[in-house]
Amino acid sequence: MTGAGSEASGPNVTGAGSEASGPNGNKPRPTDHLLACVDRSDTTREMATFTFRVLPHIADGEGGEEDSQTIAFEPGQFLSFTLDIDGRSVQRCYSISSPPTRPGTLSISVKRVAGGHVSNWLHDNMAPGMVIAASGPLGRFTYTARPAEKYLFISAGSGITPVMSMVRAITDANAPTDIVFVHSARSVDDIPFRDELEDLAQRHPNLTLAFAATRMPDDELPEWTGHRGRVDRAMIERVCPELADRIVFLCGPGQFRSGVRSALVAAGGDLALIHEESFGSRMPTVPPDDDAGVVVDFTRRARRITVTPGTTILAAAAAAGVTLPSTCGMGLCGSCKVVKLSGDVVMNHQGGIRAREISQGKILLCCSEPLSPVEIDF
Ligand SMILES: Cc1cc2nc3c(=O)[nH]c(=O)nc-3n(C[C@H](O)[C@H](O)[C@H](O)COP(=O)(O)OP(=O)(O)OC[C@H]3O[C@@H](n4cnc5c(N)ncnc54)[C@H](O)[C@@H]3O)c2cc1C
Ligand code: FES
Repeated sequence: MTGAGSEASGPNVTGAGSEASGPNGNKPRPTDHLLACVDRSDTTREMATFTFRVLPHIADGEGGEEDSQTIAFEPGQFLSFTLDIDGRSVQRCYSISSPPTRPGTLSISVKRVAGGHVSNWLHDNMAPGMVIAASGPLGRFTYTARPAEKYLFISAGSGITPVMSMVRAITDANAPTDIVFVHSARSVDDIPFRDELEDLAQRHPNLTLAFAATRMPDDELPEWTGHRGRVDRAMIERVCPELADRIVFLCGPGQFRSGVRSALVAAGGDLALIHEESFGSRMPTVPPDDDAGVVVDFTRRARRITVTPGTTILAAAAAAGVTLPSTCGMGLCGSCKVVKLSGDVVMNHQGGIRAREISQGKILLCCSEPLSPVEIDF
């Protein structure tokens, strides 16, 4: 991993242009960046915020540290980071928690995941002076894609990060947008950015905050007037007027999102107005083998797997012990892009591959299901 003060173009730069360029050795994409860490702060006891300066474009081959540039992004988008940890190249996605209205630097806020490889590494090692490679911005979880007068933002855990970028961007612009923002955390101490949010709500009457402390006993912190327990229908009805008129952005773990979705519908919300982003497992589950599989060959590895209906090639490969590159697991980041030599797939991507690449025979493994036997150049 990049050491403090290392040259951006030096040998220690974290995986830039290697794994980031995709399994087929494509040239670095114009969306690849080098970021120099300039600050690190503790946001909660489990979440740290890392702030970066963007170094000159990696594709220019310069990588000097003189004049930093910015990455044009929409609030709510994320970057795909490539790190070299203990000689292994790994990729993870992190949402940009700072807003595009504050150019010059950008931040990510990372929550420790128990046993997690990268989140703990970042907490324990990332410090000012280190350089990291990232590509993007990626993703469609942004209010700019769904302009409206009223929004409901709901998040839990690290799911707050894209919402912070959106709330900061709207309030920085002094936009009259009506926002209700509900965040769920285990306890009051686990609410990230609480002081900043309360300050914003005081200065912007169009921002209404509601926090849910899910695991705080009634006798703990008696002065707490926020909600105790999960985000449920009663809480939504209490804190969110005109729900039916609001575009909803929902981000958090799968169970949280399904509970909130049910509560929203029970409270009169419209499922079609709910936009979700998942930070959870990158690996979809594989349904039980029912013998009705399609064969997929990885020609360079001389490995053959069988993919059952409803299963992506990535998930079936993981279940068979074939490790393939992947980051977002949802067709967004492009890190699982490979060349298909033969066969047909159905691919439900979300923008992680270009039409030109599809016409060249490339596919994303995380969102492709084989329709006939497939050969892959990997
Ligand atoms: C689009 C997108 C944006 C994201 N933005 C952020 C962000 O802003 N801040 C942030 O902290 N994280 C974010 N994540 C999650 C992040 O990419 C990593 O998955 C997370 O940091 C865990 O990585 P790890 O290497 O530490 O854990 P791993 O070593 O990959 O996993 C360890 C264990 O934790 C489980 N696990 C993996 N991810 C999670 C998770 N998110 N929550 C709970 N359990 C998990 C795994 O299934 C495994 O059992 C985002 C993910 C996506 C797809
Ligand atoms: S893992 Fe991100 S597009 Fe496949």
